[in-house]
Amino acid sequence: MMMNNQNTILRKQFLAHVGQTSPSPQMIEVARAEGSFFYTPEGKRYYDLVAGVSVNNVGHANEQVVRAVQEQAAQYMHVMVYGELVERPQVVYATKVTEAMPAPLDSVYFVNSGAEAVEGALKLAKRFTGRTELISMRRAYHGSTHGAMSMMGTPEGEEWKAAFRPLLPDVQAIEFNDFGALERITERTACVLAEPVQGEAGVRPPVEGYLQALRRRCDEVGALLVFDEIQTGMGRTGELFAMIKYGVTPDIVCLAKAFGGGMPLGAFVSSKRIMDTLQTNPTLGHITTFGGHPVCCAAGLAAFDYLVEHRVVEQVEAKGALYEELLADHPQVREIRRSGLLLAVELGSSEKLFRMMELFHEAGILSDWFLYCDTAFRISPPLTISEEEVRDSARIIRTCLDRL
Ligand SMILES: Cc1ncc(COP(=O)(O)O)c(C=O)c1O
Repeated sequence: MMMNNQNTILRKQFLAHVGQTSPSPQMIEVARAEGSFFYTPEGKRYYDLVAGVSVNNVGHANEQVVRAVQEQAAQYMHVMVYGELVERPQVVYATKVTEAMPAPLDSVYFVNSGAEAVEGALKLAKRFTGRTELISMRRAYHGSTHGAMSMMGTPEGEEWKAAFRPLLPDVQAIEFNDFGALERITERTACVLAEPVQGEAGVRPPVEGYLQALRRRCDEVGALLVFDEIQTGMGRTGELFAMIKYGVTPDIVCLAKAFGGGMPLGAFVSSKRIMDTLQTNPTLGHITTFGGHPVCCAAGLAAFDYLVEHRVVEQVEAKGALYEELLADHPQVREIRRSGLLLAVELGSSEKLFRMMELFHEAGILSDWFLYCDTAFRISPPLTISEEEVRDSARIIRTCLDRL
């Protein structure tokens, strides 16, 4: 597995010319990806246990998705800004996805990313209610634009937000799973934004009855309930959407990541009654050039069809439970928090976690930690991972845990 001169040059150019998000990128070069794996130019194989952060739910290089992208790209790509022309991939996808959602969620506004879906949802909630206060959950992550960032972590401030103030005014954060804090949602509140399972907090599922109580409180005071299903949607938790798993229907739901089948696509979805308010006072309440790009919608639609046709979602819970069973008794594992195939394996210390990342790298496993939890590693593979691959990757994880 010798690294050749060209790879070295590419890495140097990567550091010199590609904008960096941190001083320590992982720097693994990708040559190709297939199913649950990706490969470096030197031929090293990695188990992808991140799936692009819950994006590649139908596996890498899924043939159905690749074909849909090729066919749509050859027919037409961008023609006109979002919302003016009738584009088949958008219409078919919007129809299918809303048929799979509980009533009254029947109108899809397509955008480009998760952060933009959140921006659109917050604007829609303000426009519909005529109110200004926005309530977020502590240790939530919703994206990195100014509006979405205002709703992350805590409003008082922490390292990610401090340098970018002023952010949105009239935002407050409550603790997820705290029933007592629901009183802070009042007649002033335009919306409450929540991930039904907190992801970047280190996988925190809702406690029994919490989402129902949140729904009731929003109804009592006329605030909209917005679910961020950007990470939990498209089968990740063992149902097509976490709102189905937990039996609570929000007024607006945000989608992205796996929604595009590996292409950049997001959406916010609500009832048509709510959505239509974005059309007037002012008109063009949210403008996007590329939102709902036909190739991205074709890819998302193909991925959605694949999930349904191959009954992928039905097998998610069993695969998640198998990982838990295979890892939970290791002496280094303090706790496993899980919803479907979204797992946080708690090691109890960040030193151990960072050592584990090095061991994973050597052993050919791509994992990651969480924005608000650097003591646990993530297991969120493609949902198409086979039982044999679950067993094999868990065996490799155990050998790494043995060396901690
Ligand atoms: C729950 C959640 N919401 C929103 C986002 C932001 O999505 P994007 O990176 O597409 O803007 C993320 C990304 O990690 C996320 O996990």
